[in-house]
Amino acid sequence: MNNFIIVDHPLIKKDLTIIRDVNTSTEIFRITVERISSILCVEVSKNFPLTEKEIETPLEKTIGFELSRQVVLIPILRAGLGMVNGFLELIPNAKVGHIGLQRNEETLEPIEYYFKTPQQLENSEVILLDPMLATGGSAVEAINYIKKRGVKNLYFVCIVAAPVGVERIQKIHPDVKIFAAVLDRQLNDKGYILPGLGDAGDRTFGTL
Ligand code: PRP
Ligand code: URA
Repeated sequence: MNNFIIVDHPLIKKDLTIIRDVNTSTEIFRITVERISSILCVEVSKNFPLTEKEIETPLEKTIGFELSRQVVLIPILRAGLGMVNGFLELIPNAKVGHIGLQRNEETLEPIEYYFKTPQQLENSEVILLDPMLATGGSAVEAINYIKKRGVKNLYFVCIVAAPVGVERIQKIHPDVKIFAAVLDRQLNDKGYILPGLGDAGDRTFGTL
């Protein structure tokens, strides 16, 4: 699958085991999602361009680096919020926009209820965050919105992806790089990922 990167790492595998486990508490679920998100952040940012910058150490002048482009994180509410701190841990000066989408439980189509991002996104590295990529409806809707703002460098980062969701993004937005911690088997008849981890929003916020 082009532009689809599975971040295969032992630390992710052991943390996925924690968040999949139905007996994991809300507290541990949240902390673990943050930790996985930080590892994903390392991978997503691997090829971000750098600009040289002259600095002085206590001993002499030298050349250092800074990220060339502003990073903008855009979590898809609610569950995407759980990934934000893991990214901010590594990129503390990132700006944060928000997209509110909720799946209609029957049609599985996303309904938009909130949208607020920084005005200037054209030259930023824009990272959409949502732990679950199921049918791909929410992801495609969010990408449609972001692209209307002229974004060129766009990444979709999830924790658990389903094949049908990945294919849907790739068909409609083949230019968007998708990162996932794991590719799961399939969806059930209610649109939940199997084996998955259940409802990520409910597990993050304790609303089960
Ligand atoms: C979940 C999840 C994604 C969406 C994925 O959100 O966080 O946004 O479902 O499903 P899809 O790929 O089929 O669109 P949900 O609608 O449950 O909202 P929540 O985060 O507020 O719980
Ligand atoms: N949204 C979730 O939170 N979990 C799934 O398995 C599918 C969509």
